[in-house]
Parts: sequence; structure tokens; C-alpha cells
Amino acid sequence: MASLYVLTLLSFFISTTSYGHVFENYSSLAFEEGYTQIFGDSNLMLVRDGRAVHISLDERSGAGFASQDLYLHGFFSASIKLPSDYAAGVVVAFYMSNGDVFEKTHDELDFEFLGNIRGREWRLQTNIYGNGSTEVGREERYSLPFDPTEDFHLYSILWSQDRIIFYIDSIPIREMARSPSMGGDFPSKPMSLYATIWDGSTWATLGGRYKVNYKYSPFVAEFADLVLHGCAADPVDPLSSTCDRHDSARYDSVTISTDQRLAMHGFRNKHVTYSYCYDLERYPTPPSECRTIAAAAAQGRHRHGKRHGRGSI
Ligand SMILES: *[C@@H]1O[C@H](CO)[C@@H](O)[C@H](O)[C@H]1NC(C)=O
Ligand SMILES: *[C@@H]1O[C@H](CO)[C@@H](O)[C@H](O)[C@H]1NC(C)=O
Repeated sequence: MASLYVLTLLSFFISTTSYGHVFENYSSLAFEEGYTQIFGDSNLMLVRDGRAVHISLDERSGAGFASQDLYLHGFFSASIKLPSDYAAGVVVAFYMSNGDVFEKTHDELDFEFLGNIRGREWRLQTNIYGNGSTEVGREERYSLPFDPTEDFHLYSILWSQDRIIFYIDSIPIREMARSPSMGGDFPSKPMSLYATIWDGSTWATLGGRYKVNYKYSPFVAEFADLVLHGCAADPVDPLSSTCDRHDSARYDSVTISTDQRLAMHGFRNKHVTYSYCYDLERYPTPPSECRTIAAAAAQGRHRHGKRHGRGSI
């Protein structure tokens, strides 16, 4: 019992120090300080003195909000609790985009929750688009090690000059380093942060087999701990950024520590259910960055196996 306690304490210590080291001082905002409603009228409701927000989907409408500013690089985060019970076809998205400003050459970074059916877990997808590269999907899908409808969990995106990291509960789950061969496919123009809930009946849950059933509505997604920590910038004049070189360097200097990398490979070994890198039907020759990702996975399996005496999965 005592050793279990020590172990728990130790892993808490490791995860908070390695992650908090970079982001410990990033305080959350009240909704009015950084965000604005974009659709859904009364389907968006502020709670907890305006420091948290509920967005819901019913027969009339979904709902959504966006950051007041666009950002060129930064750290973006929210604690999210998903609609409980039956929520097939319901999509909850937490993402960055500049599709409003750059119709043909937009950039995008997504967390998308793709509904559930009773008795089955919610599934999560991440995606990355750069400069209108919508014909090159870079999706990954995951199962989750917890029930995302029961408690709040922290979902975060770090976006710097040369790296994108998605985190769940401060553990990195996906990293994409910029490589020369990606060219414009690496997001490089200012983006807004969005949170939305909407009806994705045609595709979200098992490819659209399970549709939204409004008998169970309203479907309510809760957002709290809203963190917007980036370089606000004018989309048509990115050099107008509020950050100086020192600020930007803070995001550029974020790397994944050895402990975090171990945690990331642990998560990925167990929970990645789809990766575009291994979809040979779609990409007979996987996009170039996949070589780095495959090499990291092999190394991770090796390290993970050694540390825990387990083989690869
Ligand atoms: C966080 O803030 C404290 C107090 O202002 C400061 O001493 C510390 O260096 C900061 N940490 C980081 C990582 O910026
Ligand atoms: C983005 O796309 C536009 C239009 O296709 C192209 O002119 C531009 O060079 C691209 N930018 C980058 C960074 O690749």
C-alpha cells in the first residue's frame, strides 16, 4: 500500500514538473476576457461566474464560441466534459482555424470528439491541415483511457514555429515536427481558437451509421480552465504580432522530456486506433513526416519494453 502511494506520488510529481515547468504560469481566462459566441443563441450558457461555459445541441441548433483574437503560435487549452449517455452523431470540436480569413489556403489544428453509442467509448480524432492541404488528411484517432463524460479532462495544443504537440491531461499524445518536405502543409498563418458542438450524423459515429437521436437532447458539452496564451496577430499582417522574439522563443523552446516521451509512447501503443501514416490504401507512399513518426514509435516500443519488461504491442 505504502509503495503504491509513493509510486502514485512519484508519477504525479514527474508529470507535473515536466509539463508544468513550461506552462505553470499560464492562468485561465474568464469567457468575456478572451472569447465570443459565434452561433447558437441560448445554446451557449456561461456558468461559474463566467469562467466556464456550456454549449449544447438540440433540434434547433448547435452552438460555438471563438477567441476574440487570432494567434500566430502559442499554447491553447481547455478542460472539457462531454455529453453523457447516448450521443451518437454528436460532434464536439476544440480546434484552431483561419478558414474564415483564408478560404483556399486555410490552416487547421483539431481535437474532434466523434460521438458514442451506448456501451461504447467516445472516440477522439486529431488532425492537421496547412495552407489548404485538405486533400492530405493527417488524421489520427484514439480510444481514451477514461470516460470523458464523467469528469473534466484537459486538452491542450502547443503550436510553435517548428512543432505541434497535442496533450491530454498534460501528457503529449501526438507530436509533429516541421520538416522541409512538408512545405506549406505545416500551419503557418494566424489562427483563431474555436469550440463547437454540432450534428455530424452523416459521418461522425461509425461512418454515419449512428445518427443523432434528439430524444436524448439537449447534448451539453462543458468547457472550463480556458487558456489562451499566444502571440495575437493580424492575419493579413503577421509581423504585427504582439509577441517579440523572446516570447515566441518560449513556445519554440518547448520540447518533450524523456519522461513525457515515455508517457506518450505508452499512450500511443495502447490508444491509437488509426493513423494516416499506416493507411496504405489511402497513401501507398505515406507523407514524408511519417518516417520520423514510425522511427519514434519503434524507439518508443524499445524503450518502453525495456523499462517495463514488456514486448511491443
Ligand atoms: C512562474 O512565475 C514565478 C513567479 O513569478 C517565477 O518565479 C517562475 O520563474 C515562473 N516560471 C516560469 C516557467 O516561467
Ligand atoms: C500556399 O498556397 C498558395 C496557393 O496555392 C501558394 O501560392 C503559396 O506559395 C503556399 N504557401 C506555402 C508556404 O507553401
